[in-house]
Amino acid sequence: MKKILVLTGGGDCPGLNAVIRGIAKRARKEKNWELYGSIEAFNGVLNEPQEIVKLTSKRTAGIHVRGGTILKTTNKSNPIKYPVPQPDGSIKFIDRSDELVDKLKKLDFDAVINIGGDGSQKISKVLHDKGIPVIGVPKTIDNDLSATDMTFGFQTAVQIATDSFDKLVTTAESHHRVMIMEVMGRDAGWIAAHTAIAGGAEICLIPEIPYNIHKLVERIQHRYVKGRGFVNIVIAEGAKPKEGTITATVGEKGSEHVRLGGVAYQLSKQLKDAGCRAEIRETVLGHVQRGGTPSAFDRVLASVFGVKAFELALEKNFGRMVALKNNQIVSVPLEEATQKPNFVIPDSYLVQAAKGLGISFGD
Ligand code: F6P
Repeated sequence: MKKILVLTGGGDCPGLNAVIRGIAKRARKEKNWELYGSIEAFNGVLNEPQEIVKLTSKRTAGIHVRGGTILKTTNKSNPIKYPVPQPDGSIKFIDRSDELVDKLKKLDFDAVINIGGDGSQKISKVLHDKGIPVIGVPKTIDNDLSATDMTFGFQTAVQIATDSFDKLVTTAESHHRVMIMEVMGRDAGWIAAHTAIAGGAEICLIPEIPYNIHKLVERIQHRYVKGRGFVNIVIAEGAKPKEGTITATVGEKGSEHVRLGGVAYQLSKQLKDAGCRAEIRETVLGHVQRGGTPSAFDRVLASVFGVKAFELALEKNFGRMVALKNNQIVSVPLEEATQKPNFVIPDSYLVQAAKGLGISFGD
Protein backbone atom coordinates (compact mmCIF):
# COMPACT_ATOMS: atom_id res chain seq x y z
CA MET A 1 0.00 0.00 0.00
CA LYS A 2 1.09 3.58 -0.68
CA LYS A 3 0.61 6.20 2.01
CA ILE A 4 -0.28 9.86 1.79
CA LEU A 5 -0.21 12.39 4.64
CA VAL A 6 -2.55 15.40 4.67
CA LEU A 7 -2.41 18.37 6.97
CA THR A 8 -3.97 21.80 7.40
CA GLY A 9 -1.89 24.74 8.66
CA GLY A 10 -2.35 28.43 9.47
CA GLY A 11 -5.72 30.07 10.12
CA ASP A 12 -8.72 27.89 9.35
CA CYS A 13 -10.91 28.58 6.36
CA PRO A 14 -14.24 27.28 5.01
CA GLY A 15 -13.45 24.55 2.47
CA LEU A 16 -10.53 22.81 4.22
CA ASN A 17 -12.64 19.73 4.90
CA ALA A 18 -13.83 19.66 1.29
CA VAL A 19 -10.18 19.47 0.15
CA ILE A 20 -9.51 16.58 2.56
CA ARG A 21 -12.59 14.74 1.28
CA GLY A 22 -11.59 15.45 -2.36
CA ILE A 23 -8.17 13.89 -1.78
CA ALA A 24 -9.74 10.94 0.07
CA LYS A 25 -12.38 10.19 -2.55
CA ARG A 26 -9.94 10.39 -5.46
CA ALA A 27 -7.34 8.29 -3.59
CA ARG A 28 -9.89 5.56 -2.84
CA LYS A 29 -10.47 5.06 -6.56
CA GLU A 30 -6.86 3.88 -6.88
CA LYS A 31 -7.39 1.02 -4.34
CA ASN A 32 -3.70 0.94 -3.26
CA TRP A 33 -3.49 4.25 -1.34
CA GLU A 34 -4.07 4.88 2.34
CA LEU A 35 -4.75 8.38 3.62
CA TYR A 36 -3.46 9.76 6.93
CA GLY A 37 -3.88 13.13 8.62
CA SER A 38 -1.43 14.94 10.88
CA ILE A 39 -3.27 16.68 13.72
CA GLU A 40 -2.65 20.42 14.14
CA ALA A 41 -0.45 20.92 11.08
CA PHE A 42 3.07 19.47 11.51
CA ASN A 43 2.67 19.23 15.29
CA GLY A 44 1.12 15.79 14.73
CA VAL A 45 4.47 14.65 13.32
CA LEU A 46 6.75 16.63 15.65
CA ASN A 47 5.00 15.84 18.93
CA GLU A 48 5.80 12.75 20.99
CA PRO A 49 3.65 10.71 20.91
CA GLN A 50 2.84 11.57 17.32
CA GLU A 51 -0.75 12.37 16.42
CA ILE A 52 -1.36 10.88 13.01
CA VAL A 53 -4.80 9.48 12.27
CA LYS A 54 -5.93 7.20 9.49
CA LEU A 55 -8.53 8.98 7.37
CA THR A 56 -11.03 6.22 6.74
CA SER A 57 -14.10 6.82 4.57
CA LYS A 58 -16.13 6.99 7.80
CA ARG A 59 -13.99 9.93 8.96
CA THR A 60 -14.21 11.88 5.69
CA ALA A 61 -17.79 11.13 4.58
CA GLY A 62 -19.89 14.27 4.14
CA ILE A 63 -17.30 16.61 5.65
CA HIS A 64 -17.28 18.95 2.61
CA VAL A 65 -20.23 20.87 4.09
CA ARG A 66 -18.52 21.41 7.43
CA GLY A 67 -16.51 24.52 8.29
CA GLY A 68 -13.18 24.40 10.12
CA THR A 69 -10.86 21.43 9.71
CA ILE A 70 -11.27 17.92 11.08
CA LEU A 71 -7.45 17.82 11.35
CA LYS A 72 -7.26 20.97 13.53
CA THR A 73 -4.76 23.70 12.74
CA THR A 74 -2.37 26.20 14.26
CA ASN A 75 -0.61 29.38 13.21
CA LYS A 76 1.91 29.18 16.03
CA SER A 77 3.97 26.13 15.10
CA ASN A 78 5.98 27.00 12.02
CA PRO A 79 8.65 24.24 12.04
CA ILE A 80 11.18 26.69 10.58
CA LYS A 81 10.49 29.27 13.29
CA TYR A 82 9.10 27.14 16.09
CA PRO A 83 8.18 29.10 19.23
CA VAL A 84 9.74 27.75 22.43
CA PRO A 85 8.68 29.42 25.72
CA GLN A 86 11.68 30.43 27.85
CA PRO A 87 11.86 30.35 31.68
CA ASP A 88 11.74 34.19 31.78
CA GLY A 89 8.41 34.14 29.90
CA SER A 90 9.88 35.23 26.57
CA ILE A 91 9.65 33.18 23.37
CA LYS A 92 12.64 31.91 21.40
CA PHE A 93 12.11 30.80 17.78
CA ILE A 94 14.08 27.73 16.67
CA ASP A 95 14.41 25.86 13.36
CA ARG A 96 12.97 22.34 13.72
CA SER A 97 12.80 21.63 9.99
CA ASP A 98 15.62 19.01 10.04
CA GLU A 99 13.93 17.19 12.93
CA LEU A 100 10.65 17.29 10.99
CA VAL A 101 12.32 16.01 7.83
CA ASP A 102 13.91 13.10 9.78
CA LYS A 103 10.58 12.19 11.30
CA LEU A 104 8.75 12.40 7.98
CA LYS A 105 11.41 10.26 6.30
CA LYS A 106 11.02 7.61 9.03
CA LEU A 107 7.26 7.63 8.51
CA ASP A 108 7.95 6.99 4.82
CA PHE A 109 4.93 8.68 3.22
CA ASP A 110 4.77 8.54 -0.58
CA ALA A 111 3.31 12.05 -0.62
CA VAL A 112 2.59 14.88 1.81
CA ILE A 113 -0.21 17.32 0.95
CA ASN A 114 0.09 20.60 2.83
CA ILE A 115 -3.09 22.69 2.75
CA GLY A 116 -2.32 26.24 3.81
CA GLY A 117 -1.63 29.85 2.96
CA ASP A 118 1.53 31.74 2.17
CA GLY A 119 3.37 30.74 5.39
CA SER A 120 2.42 27.06 4.98
CA GLN A 121 3.57 26.97 1.36
CA LYS A 122 6.93 28.46 2.36
CA ILE A 123 7.21 25.49 4.74
CA SER A 124 6.21 23.15 1.85
CA LYS A 125 9.05 24.59 -0.22
CA VAL A 126 11.67 24.10 2.52
CA LEU A 127 10.53 20.49 3.10
CA HIS A 128 10.53 19.73 -0.61
CA ASP A 129 14.05 21.15 -0.94
CA LYS A 130 15.08 18.78 1.86
CA GLY A 131 13.74 15.76 0.00
CA ILE A 132 10.11 15.41 1.15
CA PRO A 133 7.58 14.70 -1.64
CA VAL A 134 5.31 17.69 -0.94
CA ILE A 135 2.32 19.11 -2.78
CA GLY A 136 0.71 22.36 -1.72
CA VAL A 137 -2.95 23.37 -1.74
CA PRO A 138 -3.58 27.13 -1.31
CA LYS A 139 -6.06 28.39 1.27
CA THR A 140 -6.86 31.75 2.76
CA ILE A 141 -10.01 33.78 3.16
CA ASP A 142 -7.88 36.85 2.37
CA ASN A 143 -7.29 35.71 -1.26
CA ASP A 144 -3.77 37.09 -1.06
CA LEU A 145 -1.85 34.40 -2.99
CA SER A 146 -0.86 35.53 -6.48
CA ALA A 147 -0.23 32.06 -7.95
CA THR A 148 -3.96 31.29 -7.95
CA ASP A 149 -6.76 33.46 -9.29
CA MET A 150 -8.80 32.63 -6.22
CA THR A 151 -8.48 30.73 -2.94
CA PHE A 152 -11.38 28.80 -1.44
CA GLY A 153 -12.85 30.41 1.66
CA PHE A 154 -12.73 33.88 0.12
CA GLN A 155 -16.20 33.72 -1.45
CA THR A 156 -17.70 32.42 1.79
CA ALA A 157 -16.05 35.24 3.77
CA VAL A 158 -17.35 37.84 1.29
CA GLN A 159 -20.87 36.41 1.55
CA ILE A 160 -20.77 36.48 5.36
CA ALA A 161 -19.45 40.06 5.30
CA THR A 162 -22.06 41.14 2.75
CA ASP A 163 -24.91 39.61 4.75
CA SER A 164 -23.67 41.50 7.82
CA PHE A 165 -23.23 44.71 5.81
CA ASP A 166 -26.85 44.49 4.57
CA LYS A 167 -28.02 44.29 8.17
CA LEU A 168 -25.98 47.34 9.12
CA VAL A 169 -27.46 49.37 6.25
CA THR A 170 -31.01 49.18 7.59
CA THR A 171 -30.00 50.22 11.09
CA ALA A 172 -27.72 53.00 9.71
CA GLU A 173 -30.67 54.33 7.73
CA SER A 174 -33.07 54.22 10.69
CA HIS A 175 -30.71 56.18 12.96
CA HIS A 176 -28.98 58.42 10.39
CA ARG A 177 -25.70 56.94 11.56
CA VAL A 178 -22.27 56.23 10.19
CA MET A 179 -21.66 52.50 10.48
CA ILE A 180 -18.10 51.22 10.29
CA MET A 181 -17.77 47.51 9.59
CA GLU A 182 -14.32 45.97 9.95
CA VAL A 183 -13.48 42.87 7.92
CA MET A 184 -10.39 40.67 7.74
CA GLY A 185 -7.59 41.44 5.31
CA ARG A 186 -4.18 41.72 6.88
CA ASP A 187 -2.24 42.87 3.81
CA ALA A 188 -4.82 42.64 1.04
CA GLY A 189 -8.20 44.35 0.83
CA TRP A 190 -10.06 41.79 -1.31
CA ILE A 191 -12.78 41.00 1.22
CA ALA A 192 -13.35 44.71 1.90
CA ALA A 193 -13.43 45.70 -1.79
CA HIS A 194 -15.83 42.92 -2.79
CA THR A 195 -18.08 43.53 0.21
CA ALA A 196 -18.17 47.27 -0.47
CA ILE A 197 -19.29 46.69 -4.05
CA ALA A 198 -21.74 43.89 -3.17
CA GLY A 199 -23.23 45.83 -0.26
CA GLY A 200 -23.15 49.31 -1.79
CA ALA A 201 -20.83 51.06 0.66
CA GLU A 202 -20.02 54.76 0.54
CA ILE A 203 -16.45 54.25 1.78
CA CYS A 204 -14.03 51.33 1.49
CA LEU A 205 -10.62 51.38 3.18
CA ILE A 206 -7.98 48.83 2.25
CA PRO A 207 -4.27 48.33 3.08
CA GLU A 208 -3.24 48.98 -0.54
CA ILE A 209 -4.74 52.51 -0.66
CA PRO A 210 -3.81 54.67 2.35
CA TYR A 211 -6.60 57.12 3.13
CA ASN A 212 -6.79 60.80 3.96
CA ILE A 213 -9.11 61.28 6.93
CA HIS A 214 -10.26 64.71 5.74
CA LYS A 215 -11.45 63.25 2.42
CA LEU A 216 -13.53 60.75 4.39
CA VAL A 217 -15.10 63.50 6.50
CA GLU A 218 -15.94 65.41 3.29
CA ARG A 219 -17.52 62.30 1.75
CA ILE A 220 -19.62 61.75 4.89
CA GLN A 221 -20.72 65.42 5.04
CA HIS A 222 -21.70 65.31 1.37
CA ARG A 223 -23.84 62.26 1.94
CA TYR A 224 -25.59 63.93 4.91
CA VAL A 225 -26.18 67.17 3.05
CA LYS A 226 -26.96 65.91 -0.44
CA GLY A 227 -27.50 62.19 -0.09
CA ARG A 228 -29.53 59.83 2.04
CA GLY A 229 -28.28 60.92 5.46
CA PHE A 230 -26.46 57.78 6.55
CA VAL A 231 -23.15 56.17 5.66
CA ASN A 232 -21.83 52.62 5.56
CA ILE A 233 -18.07 52.10 5.66
CA VAL A 234 -16.14 48.86 5.14
CA ILE A 235 -12.60 48.83 6.48
CA ALA A 236 -10.04 46.03 6.19
CA GLU A 237 -8.21 45.25 9.42
CA GLY A 238 -4.89 46.18 7.79
CA ALA A 239 -6.05 49.55 6.39
CA LYS A 240 -3.84 52.55 7.03
CA PRO A 241 -4.04 56.33 6.84
CA LYS A 242 -1.65 58.23 4.56
CA GLU A 243 0.18 59.38 7.66
CA GLY A 244 0.77 57.28 10.77
CA THR A 245 -0.85 53.96 11.55
CA ILE A 246 -4.03 52.71 13.15
CA THR A 247 -3.14 49.01 13.45
CA ALA A 248 -1.65 47.16 16.39
CA THR A 249 2.12 46.85 16.44
CA VAL A 250 2.66 44.11 19.00
CA GLY A 251 2.50 40.41 18.18
CA GLU A 252 0.78 37.75 20.22
CA LYS A 253 3.10 35.44 22.14
CA GLY A 254 4.38 32.63 19.95
CA SER A 255 2.94 34.11 16.78
CA GLU A 256 5.06 35.50 13.98
CA HIS A 257 2.26 37.92 13.13
CA VAL A 258 0.97 41.02 14.78
CA ARG A 259 -2.59 40.34 15.88
CA LEU A 260 -4.86 42.75 14.06
CA GLY A 261 -8.44 43.76 14.78
CA GLY A 262 -9.93 46.98 16.12
CA VAL A 263 -9.18 49.53 13.38
CA ALA A 264 -12.91 50.31 13.23
CA TYR A 265 -12.61 51.95 16.67
CA GLN A 266 -9.46 53.83 15.66
CA LEU A 267 -11.15 55.12 12.53
CA SER A 268 -14.21 56.18 14.51
CA LYS A 269 -12.02 58.26 16.83
CA GLN A 270 -10.06 59.73 13.91
CA LEU A 271 -13.29 60.77 12.18
CA LYS A 272 -14.58 62.50 15.30
CA ASP A 273 -11.22 64.23 15.87
CA ALA A 274 -11.30 65.41 12.23
CA GLY A 275 -14.69 67.07 12.72
CA CYS A 276 -17.24 64.40 11.76
CA ARG A 277 -20.36 65.27 13.73
CA ALA A 278 -22.50 62.27 12.77
CA GLU A 279 -23.15 59.52 15.27
CA ILE A 280 -20.82 56.59 14.60
CA ARG A 281 -21.08 52.90 15.52
CA GLU A 282 -18.46 50.22 14.98
CA THR A 283 -18.77 46.51 14.20
CA VAL A 284 -15.76 44.20 14.08
CA LEU A 285 -16.80 41.05 12.21
CA GLY A 286 -13.71 39.06 13.16
CA HIS A 287 -13.70 35.29 13.00
CA VAL A 288 -17.34 34.83 11.94
CA GLN A 289 -15.87 35.40 8.46
CA ARG A 290 -13.87 32.20 8.79
CA GLY A 291 -16.53 30.05 10.38
CA GLY A 292 -19.46 27.97 9.29
CA THR A 293 -20.30 26.05 6.18
CA PRO A 294 -18.47 26.91 2.93
CA SER A 295 -20.46 28.41 0.04
CA ALA A 296 -21.23 26.17 -2.93
CA PHE A 297 -18.47 27.90 -4.95
CA ASP A 298 -15.88 27.25 -2.25
CA ARG A 299 -16.98 23.62 -1.86
CA VAL A 300 -16.47 23.12 -5.57
CA LEU A 301 -13.09 24.88 -5.72
CA ALA A 302 -11.84 23.07 -2.61
CA SER A 303 -13.07 19.65 -3.81
CA VAL A 304 -11.47 20.12 -7.23
CA PHE A 305 -8.20 21.27 -5.60
CA GLY A 306 -8.27 18.09 -3.48
CA VAL A 307 -8.71 15.81 -6.50
CA LYS A 308 -5.95 17.66 -8.39
CA ALA A 309 -3.56 17.45 -5.41
CA PHE A 310 -3.98 13.67 -5.26
CA GLU A 311 -3.45 13.37 -9.01
CA LEU A 312 -0.18 15.30 -8.71
CA ALA A 313 0.88 12.75 -6.06
CA LEU A 314 -0.10 9.91 -8.37
CA GLU A 315 2.06 11.41 -11.13
CA LYS A 316 4.90 12.00 -8.61
CA ASN A 317 4.73 15.65 -9.62
CA PHE A 318 6.05 17.01 -6.32
CA GLY A 319 7.20 20.49 -5.31
CA ARG A 320 4.10 22.04 -6.83
CA MET A 321 0.96 23.80 -5.60
CA VAL A 322 -2.44 23.41 -7.21
CA ALA A 323 -3.97 26.64 -8.53
CA LEU A 324 -6.88 28.13 -10.42
CA LYS A 325 -5.62 30.04 -13.47
CA ASN A 326 -7.87 31.43 -16.21
CA ASN A 327 -10.64 29.02 -15.22
CA GLN A 328 -8.31 26.00 -15.44
CA ILE A 329 -7.08 23.87 -12.55
CA VAL A 330 -3.31 23.78 -12.93
CA SER A 331 -0.21 23.44 -10.75
CA VAL A 332 2.64 25.88 -10.21
CA PRO A 333 6.12 25.35 -8.72
CA LEU A 334 6.20 26.03 -4.96
CA GLU A 335 8.79 28.81 -5.39
CA GLU A 336 6.36 30.64 -7.70
CA ALA A 337 3.53 30.00 -5.25
CA THR A 338 5.19 32.03 -2.51
CA GLN A 339 7.03 34.66 -4.51
CA LYS A 340 4.67 37.58 -4.28
CA PRO A 341 1.36 38.32 -2.56
CA ASN A 342 -1.82 39.10 -4.40
CA PHE A 343 -2.72 42.69 -3.60
CA VAL A 344 -5.65 44.77 -4.79
CA ILE A 345 -4.10 46.99 -7.47
CA PRO A 346 -5.18 50.62 -6.95
CA ASP A 347 -5.61 51.29 -10.68
CA SER A 348 -7.24 47.93 -11.42
CA TYR A 349 -10.66 47.78 -12.99
CA LEU A 350 -12.16 46.52 -9.71
CA VAL A 351 -11.12 49.69 -7.89
CA GLN A 352 -12.03 51.93 -10.83
CA ALA A 353 -15.46 50.28 -11.02
CA ALA A 354 -15.94 50.72 -7.28
CA LYS A 355 -15.10 54.41 -7.67
CA GLY A 356 -17.51 54.53 -10.60
CA LEU A 357 -20.18 53.29 -8.19
CA GLY A 358 -19.43 56.22 -5.89
CA ILE A 359 -17.31 54.35 -3.37
CA SER A 360 -14.56 56.47 -1.86
CA PHE A 361 -11.22 54.89 -0.92
CA GLY A 362 -10.19 58.10 0.80
CA ASP A 363 -7.28 58.68 -1.64
O1 F6P B 1 -5.77 34.07 7.37
C1 F6P B 1 -5.55 35.40 7.47
C2 F6P B 1 -6.45 36.03 8.48
O2 F6P B 1 -7.75 35.78 8.14
C3 F6P B 1 -6.11 37.51 8.58
O3 F6P B 1 -6.92 38.33 7.80
C4 F6P B 1 -6.25 37.76 10.05
O4 F6P B 1 -5.44 38.83 10.46
C5 F6P B 1 -5.80 36.48 10.65
O5 F6P B 1 -6.22 35.48 9.75
C6 F6P B 1 -6.31 36.25 12.03
O6 F6P B 1 -5.90 35.00 12.46
P1 F6P B 1 -5.96 34.44 13.95
O7 F6P B 1 -6.82 35.35 14.77
O8 F6P B 1 -6.52 33.08 13.81
O9 F6P B 1 -4.55 34.41 14.41
